[in-house]
Amino acid sequence: MNRYKIVCLVLSVALLASLARLAVTANGEKACCGKHSAEAKSSVVLQNILNRKSVRSFTDRPVSREQLDTLLRAAMAAPTGRDMRPWKFVVVQGRAEMDSLAQRLPYAKMLTEATAAVIVCGDLSVLSKEGKPSTNWTFDCSAATENLLLMAEAMGLGAVWTGVHPYEDRLSVVKAALGLPEHIVPLNVVPIGYPKGTPQPKDKFDAANIHYNRW
Ligand SMILES: Cc1cc2nc3c(=O)[nH]c(=O)nc-3n(C[C@H](O)[C@H](O)[C@H](O)COP(=O)(O)O)c2cc1C
Repeated sequence: MNRYKIVCLVLSVALLASLARLAVTANGEKACCGKHSAEAKSSVVLQNILNRKSVRSFTDRPVSREQLDTLLRAAMAAPTGRDMRPWKFVVVQGRAEMDSLAQRLPYAKMLTEATAAVIVCGDLSVLSKEGKPSTNWTFDCSAATENLLLMAEAMGLGAVWTGVHPYEDRLSVVKAALGLPEHIVPLNVVPIGYPKGTPQPKDKFDAANIHYNRW
């Protein structure tokens, strides 16, 4: 082997070694940054969950149609039993409509200040493969409601779940006010708006509520 060939061989080995090191570093960095971005993302999500609170007082700044669409997009991303999605959402806007609903719902008086409301309803006409209405609609609509409340928090809006189902008096008021057909059952009324003041979330974490493996 002449000197020229030896130099070429040494340079090739050095080049391969550099490429290998580069590949390892790039992968390492990817893993490291992926880990950091997952941590950052989960921290943002946790903070949003912990910051959510029931908001019952609102400014008169209106909530836009786009914001309502985003809230409903989040709501409908919720999980549902057998993926039945047995829900309908009625959006109420307009001072007269909101005030009229508030007048008849003592537990939802904050509707007089809210600029919009979403009524989350179970749809009993959505049938399973066996032709039966969902047995899980209250859970499904509850999951959708929580998604909506969390999205509202993330958007700087305030909202509160006010219960309708299973109270007969509230059910009849909401059904009549909104002209709901028999198969549509309102689970709740969620007044929405920009929060007035600075409502604070409650810290509800309690380690005593947790049991590992056995009671
Ligand atoms: C099923 C259910 C029904 C509720 N009904 C009402 C209601 O009718 N009126 C009201 O002001 N708040 C209502 N709330 C809101 C609770 O009072 C509130 O979530 C609770 O006090 C905890 O406060 P936080 O939401 O700020 O964490 C209801 C919440 C749930 C989950």
